[in-house]
Amino acid sequence: MLSGIQPSGQLHLGNYLGPLCHWPEMIDMFDCYFFLADLHTITVRQEPAELRKRTLTLLAQYIACGLDPEKCVLFIQSHVPAHSQLGWVLDCYTMFGELSRMTQFKDKSAKNSDNINAGLFTYPALMAADILLYQADLVPVGDDQRQHVEICRDIAGRFNGIYGNVFKIPEPYIAKIGARIMSLGAPSCKMSKSQPEGCVFLMEKPEDVMRKFKRAVTDSDTERCVRYAPAEKPGVSNLMQIYAAATGRSFEAIETEFAGKGYGDFKKVVGEAVVELLRPIREETERLLADKAYLESVYRSGAERAAYVANRTLGKVYKKVGLLPR
Ligand code: TYM
Repeated sequence: MLSGIQPSGQLHLGNYLGPLCHWPEMIDMFDCYFFLADLHTITVRQEPAELRKRTLTLLAQYIACGLDPEKCVLFIQSHVPAHSQLGWVLDCYTMFGELSRMTQFKDKSAKNSDNINAGLFTYPALMAADILLYQADLVPVGDDQRQHVEICRDIAGRFNGIYGNVFKIPEPYIAKIGARIMSLGAPSCKMSKSQPEGCVFLMEKPEDVMRKFKRAVTDSDTERCVRYAPAEKPGVSNLMQIYAAATGRSFEAIETEFAGKGYGDFKKVVGEAVVELLRPIREETERLLADKAYLESVYRSGAERAAYVANRTLGKVYKKVGLLPR
């Protein structure tokens, strides 16, 4: 099993409730690889010192969220050159037309119209390399990455069609609850760091988290009751998703809990549940960030373990396509 997150901004509640909170429970069942997708991050211009700092913070957050480096492989993408190497090979097996259809490319190029670079366009081929190098069966991601896992399957299938069974075809693993957490300020948009007022960050202070929840947009329907109905009541339904994912409660149990109560009470309780969920993660991240030597030892040994597996696949691919061994 493999997944990754870009150290492109602060980790937020969508990243946590969508994929990340499910990863720790998988490490006892699967052979797991979790990485920091720093090469993907530079498809958008970054401040170098900030990127280095965020990469280390994200690694500390992985561990604080329960990814024990003794039980899974944690590494930084750029530390394993095979990602770039297989990425190039897969670029040559990925079609212009299919890359042009990627929703994320269209969104990101609209947002960064002064920097629509080739990396932003071929991003899905690098992501396919990330996955296929480890022969992953499962890729746990949020709903917005489904299309990228689909194109990875297509690329792998095309390659296997020419050269025999080189790659395992991966399946996306998308949780039923939390796969698309919406912005607290605009429940029709995905929660993302680009809209900080509607986005709850994992390192945020409890009072700021509470303020964001108290201001969360609810719905202007006349019914004014807590009921799960995403089309009619997107704001309330999003808060229900967050509460369900944070506490493990079902939608029915939440509806019963808040029967006869107003939206104000509901928002406060959801905010408090999130504060309590994030508190130990924030505290543990701060503790780990004070121990740089430990974090370095984790990413060094992670890179070694990852490179061993990745290079095996890369060697096979180079041979299949006809590159002369050194
Ligand atoms: P990234 O860094 O944008 O997001 C990391 C993960 O968080 C999920 N996510 C969400 N889930 C629920 N609600 C939201 N509002 C929300 N926002 C983000 C994303 O779906 C993702 O799972 N391309 C990837 C990184 C990547 C990768 C990979 C992932 C690179 N190579 C190989 C898996 C396998 C990305 O940009 O995710």
